[in-house]
Amino acid sequence: MKTVLITGANRGIGLKFVEYYCQHNWQVYATYRDEHHTLLDRTTQYENLTLLKVDVSDIASVAKLKHSMTGITLNLLINNAGTYGPKGHGFGQTSTEQVDQWQDVFAINTIAPMLITEALCKNLQFGAPAKVAFVSSKMGSINDNSSGGSYIYRSSKTALNSVVKSLSVDLAQYDISVVSLHPGWVKTRMGGDSALIDTNTSVTGMTKVIEHLTPEQSGQFINFDGTQLTW
Ligand SMILES: NC(=O)c1ccc[n+]([C@@H]2O[C@H](COP(=O)([O-])OP(=O)(O)OC[C@H]3O[C@@H](n4cnc5c(N)ncnc54)[C@H](OP(=O)(O)O)[C@@H]3O)[C@@H](O)[C@H]2O)c1
Repeated sequence: MKTVLITGANRGIGLKFVEYYCQHNWQVYATYRDEHHTLLDRTTQYENLTLLKVDVSDIASVAKLKHSMTGITLNLLINNAGTYGPKGHGFGQTSTEQVDQWQDVFAINTIAPMLITEALCKNLQFGAPAKVAFVSSKMGSINDNSSGGSYIYRSSKTALNSVVKSLSVDLAQYDISVVSLHPGWVKTRMGGDSALIDTNTSVTGMTKVIEHLTPEQSGQFINFDGTQLTW
């Protein structure tokens, strides 16, 4: 039985990842932050699901996760938890409040995936050849940015992509491949009702990309439909 840990699994894309891997008979560790009623329902449905309470941006919480995962083999880690941050922050509107919010978004979207990957690296080494998928966003692509704005979210995902590229170099020695994924514009609390695809389409695509990821592709930025994206 293969083993996966998914962060931010309480709703949206993360919850769909949980369903997918549970149904495909993986041992699934799913993290939630506060409320977890939807996830809790799933534990009665799936014997292969374990819930762990983690705030990914809290170093003490990540240290607790590391401790509770001691000795467990991981074949796959999905760093999915993320936040958009404040909406409507435009040029000329960067107040002290926005600076604080910007730092919070960086803590969740950019620094936390690094902390979690460091905390679980030993588990991934036990499971090698192993994979780490980072749910990034095309909004972090500098090349794709033709509409401007969204300074906070865009920059947090651009920086995440940079982290992923460095990890691809540093983790190759452990036979761990990493990938930065764009899930599409997805109907979730973050994506909203006008989004183009549902979580099923997004996760079906991304799980296929992860399954076929080769060490040669490690460090790439890949769309949910398998096409490679530019930085
Ligand atoms: N939806 C889209 O169109 C879209 C497009 C591009 C990229 N993405 C990326 O896809 C990922 C999933 O987003 P989604 O659309 O599923 O959004 P969502 O429905 O808002 O879900 C976000 C998840 O992240 C969790 N989370 C946020 N901050 C956290 C923290 N500090 N510690 C632990 N968990 C935390 C949330 O937990 P709580 O339930 O506790 O709040 C929630 O489970 C994100 O990384 C997002 O940037 C989404």
